[in-house]
Amino acid sequence: MDKRSSARKKKVLVIMGTRPEVIKLAPVVEALNRPEKAWSRKTESARKTGGRFRTIICLTGQHREMVEPFLKIFGLKPDYDLRVMVPNQHLGELTGRVLAGMKKVLEAEKPDWLLVQGDTTSAMAAALAAFYQKIKIGHVEAGLRTDDKYNPFPEEINRRLISHLTDFHFAPTELARQNLLAEGVRPENIFVTGNTVVDALKMILKKSGREDKKIKENRAAGREKIIRITEIGATEQERGEPAGRSADRSTGQKNSGFSGGKSGASERGDFVSGSGLNRAEETLSFDRVKKIKKLILVTAHRRESFGQGLEGICRAILEIVGRIKEAEVIFPVHLNPAVRKTVLSRLKGQERIHLVEPLDYVTFVHLMRRASLILTDSGGIQEEAPSLGVPVVVMRETTERPEAIQAGVAWLAGTDPEKITRLAVRLLKKVEDREFRRGLSRRNPFGDGRAGLRISRLLKPGDT
Ligand code: UD1
Ligand code: UDP
Repeated sequence: MDKRSSARKKKVLVIMGTRPEVIKLAPVVEALNRPEKAWSRKTESARKTGGRFRTIICLTGQHREMVEPFLKIFGLKPDYDLRVMVPNQHLGELTGRVLAGMKKVLEAEKPDWLLVQGDTTSAMAAALAAFYQKIKIGHVEAGLRTDDKYNPFPEEINRRLISHLTDFHFAPTELARQNLLAEGVRPENIFVTGNTVVDALKMILKKSGREDKKIKENRAAGREKIIRITEIGATEQERGEPAGRSADRSTGQKNSGFSGGKSGASERGDFVSGSGLNRAEETLSFDRVKKIKKLILVTAHRRESFGQGLEGICRAILEIVGRIKEAEVIFPVHLNPAVRKTVLSRLKGQERIHLVEPLDYVTFVHLMRRASLILTDSGGIQEEAPSLGVPVVVMRETTERPEAIQAGVAWLAGTDPEKITRLAVRLLKKVEDREFRRGLSRRNPFGDGRAGLRISRLLKPGDT
């Protein structure tokens, strides 16, 4: 690339704060970085728009250990890391730290576009910082709504605020477009692209095929360790060790030495959690997982469920494994101390319930494919399930993804233990029926795996 063409390159600053943002923005970064030649597909030959971007990745560091393995898996190398995370972080303080850090990065880089994804506090605060400097904002996964201010909390308000600040709204579905139109967003600024999670899942399914082969090869060579899942052992408090390290903070510094820290550690089976609460002691091998007849994969992390909701979720899990003897639960426990405290105190040491550290994406996708049922309050997992044909019980009072329910792959249960148990027991029976299972794997209503490409193309026209 000569100097002149380099100078013409449009600069796109991509913000990543949490695990799902890395997953869902990785395909966009990949598309932005594609060489120009790769764009001229037959059907799109009239719009050779690619390869003109200079992509800069800024981590806010809202999540730390939980994003590092994902950066590695997608081959992403951040240019900045604001390192804002502190244990048990307060939303207002988190917002302040992201705003302050972003000011410096935006002043230094002066990008043409800022891209944010979803509804996290990182995305909201970064968009606000860009607005203050009159930088154009593209919002990936725009237009999701529950119309309930406190469900999910604070995400419903985060995404509404982002919509007010945004110039280009990349809506994953037609329903999301309608939501934005109903709020007065101009139709010419809304683009239905599909959800980039489908792109990410496809990228990982390719990798996971290679991984399956690697697992077999490793097993044959007697190197089973690297395919182990880490089970959570005793807490540091229980062992009388001091609480975890305090987070180091810095803002707006060019990330000269991004080391990746414990990146990929969970793959090695020696993951040490950043919350400082738990350390691995036992392991759960893939061979053992293979023997589970009815695998139930569980995740839970929503702030609005802390307390009674999460207690209800734990009671339901105990009830389900009590009733169904062939069932075993694998529950990668989110690093949020509020989640860990409840989940570990209620479920640790229970037979057929494996509490494990957060898993890297390849391992998690492997388990989703292997599962008979998923119980979750995650947004991304609701979107992935239709591609994998696994039934999902959504442990939330509302969902901004009714498309999964309409597609017949997800069921809304709330956090009432009886309702979750009833649905789970019914679905565990139903999945044995081939017809039912076949009906679950249909076209994914959230996208076709080309959302990232569409978004990168849309950043070009009419914005010079
Ligand atoms: C955040 C997002 C939520 C998203 C979720 C994805 C907000 C307000 N919430 O929720 O929308 O669905 O991420 O998982 O933006 N922690 C670690 N290491 C990590 C990550 C978290 O130790 O790598 C611990 C820290 O103590 C941290 C706490 O978890 O303070 C909470 O993290 P935070 O990002 O505020 O909330 P999440 O519940 O993860
Ligand atoms: N995920 C993962 N490992 C785990 C749990 C989840 O790779 O141990 C993936 C999951 O497949 C999905 C994303 O993380 O793509 C969802 O993240 P999370 O539930 O934290 O956030 P949400 O989607 O609710 O915002």
